Amino acid sequence: MKGAIFDLDGVITDTAKFHFEAWSQLAKEQLGLVLPAEFEAELKGISRTDSLIKILEFGGLRDNYTEEEILAMAEKKNGYYLQAIETLTKEDILPGITRLIGELKDHGVKLSIASASKNAPAILEKLGLLDEFDAIADPSKVANGKPAPDIFLAGAKAVELEPKDCVGVEDAVSGVAAIKAAKMTAVAVGDETELAQADVVVPTTADFSYALFEKTWEAAK
Ligand code: G6P
Ligand code: MG
Repeated sequence: MKGAIFDLDGVITDTAKFHFEAWSQLAKEQLGLVLPAEFEAELKGISRTDSLIKILEFGGLRDNYTEEEILAMAEKKNGYYLQAIETLTKEDILPGITRLIGELKDHGVKLSIASASKNAPAILEKLGLLDEFDAIADPSKVANGKPAPDIFLAGAKAVELEPKDCVGVEDAVSGVAAIKAAKMTAVAVGDETELAQADVVVPTTADFSYALFEKTWEAAK
């Protein structure tokens, strides 16, 4: 294993609840919709615009809004989200992640971010982790969002590595599908049944380690 390509939301810090709260506020205020709890998981890994489209489809409202109105609503949601993440600090790094980063670096593994979030650099900065990563793939420069492999391929390319030499790290079903489509080894955190496509699934980020990543990569390659 030469590289570890990380998702951000739900892997490095738990921002899924803030995304969901921001979408819920927007849906209530602008669309008169109450989002079911399942949406929190369904929107994981899905880009801002694609998330809004899913919400509009859920409400049977897909054709009621122009492209411009959709962009404006997505922008509004981002305003709510930015407010919610304002208070993030290094205390919000998920358990085991700081240790894992140290272990991977000690073994010369390159670290890259493959998040669908345009807020990834700002979040890493707030967590004090911006300088720990060798690269951050830019989601606005890839053609297709997760479950397409594009962002993971961009993450590997940004550290000049072949996908086969990399492990991808995810918490979302769409993200695990993206890693496998990129022909990388997939390490996932969360529900074993939901994330069954991954090469290994652990219940919490505290279970991540260099040894687990390396062993899983060896067995999957
Ligand atoms: C991550 C989250 C998604 C979010 C997406 C875009 O993948 O899991 O829930 O919609 O990023 O985030 P952004 O910060 O650009 O709106
Ligand atoms: Mg995620």
